Amino acid sequence: MEEIAVDHTHAFSRKTVWLHWLVAVVMLPMLAIGIYMSLAEAYGLYDIHKSIGLLALPLLAARAAWRLRQGWPRPLGRYRASERWLAKAIHWCLLLGTLALPLSGMLYSAASGHGFGIFGVTLVPANQDPSDPDAVIPYSQLLSVLGETAHEWVGYGLVVILLLHVAGALKHHLVDRDGTLRRMLGRHV
Ligand code: HEM
Ligand code: HEM
Repeated sequence: MEEIAVDHTHAFSRKTVWLHWLVAVVMLPMLAIGIYMSLAEAYGLYDIHKSIGLLALPLLAARAAWRLRQGWPRPLGRYRASERWLAKAIHWCLLLGTLALPLSGMLYSAASGHGFGIFGVTLVPANQDPSDPDAVIPYSQLLSVLGETAHEWVGYGLVVILLLHVAGALKHHLVDRDGTLRRMLGRHV
């Protein structure tokens, strides 16, 4: 890969490429684990899900900061304004979604009284119900519902947006036959 410090139309910086694929490697399994554990009520996975999400937060924030500082990549081909608008809207949703998910998860877990931590190191303690060892008491019912609803909607919404995103990448590669996907793989196109 050619060493460039900032993104150009014909090549992305190493940082852009690494950050994109690292985030993808974290986000895709996290979405799958989140959906599986909540549908299957696999409570053994909750601490792992929370821990990975918290550890990923600096990476997700660094990527968002890098993208916002650089501006958005310029399209390679001559596309219709509507297509360019759609790509940009999807990229914004992806970027904001990667931040909204861990933050809403933290809000929900903290406010609901379940608490959270990183692999056994408690950051927000559970609010145990003194009369029932299996139950917790919400610190704030309102913030708990807000966090839970946001986490769920953004989570499922992001899955839909990601399907469009990957379909878009494949369309560029297979139908338009331009270098959009290869550029994100670190090639000079
Ligand atoms: C990369 C970050 C994260 C992703 C992609 C992610 C994704 C998801 C998804 C898709 C679900 C299933 C939808 C739902 O029921 O809400 C879920 C559930 C859940 N997530 Fe996350 N999450 C992330 C980070 C976090 C963090 C940091 C916490 C807490 C500290 C958290 C706590 C939870 C909890 C408690 C549930 C279960 C909700 C329920 O059973 O109703 N998540 N997550
Ligand atoms: C197999 C999965 C994925 C493929 C094939 C893929 C492919 C691509 C490609 C080719 C681009 C460049 C678009 C352009 O130059 O206009 C791109 C950009 C982008 N992708 Fe993905 N992507 C994947 C997963 C993800 C995931 C999981 C996320 C985050 C949740 C994500 C977020 C973004 C964002 C925000 C951009 C805008 C450019 C940037 O910020 O660097 N992608 N993706």
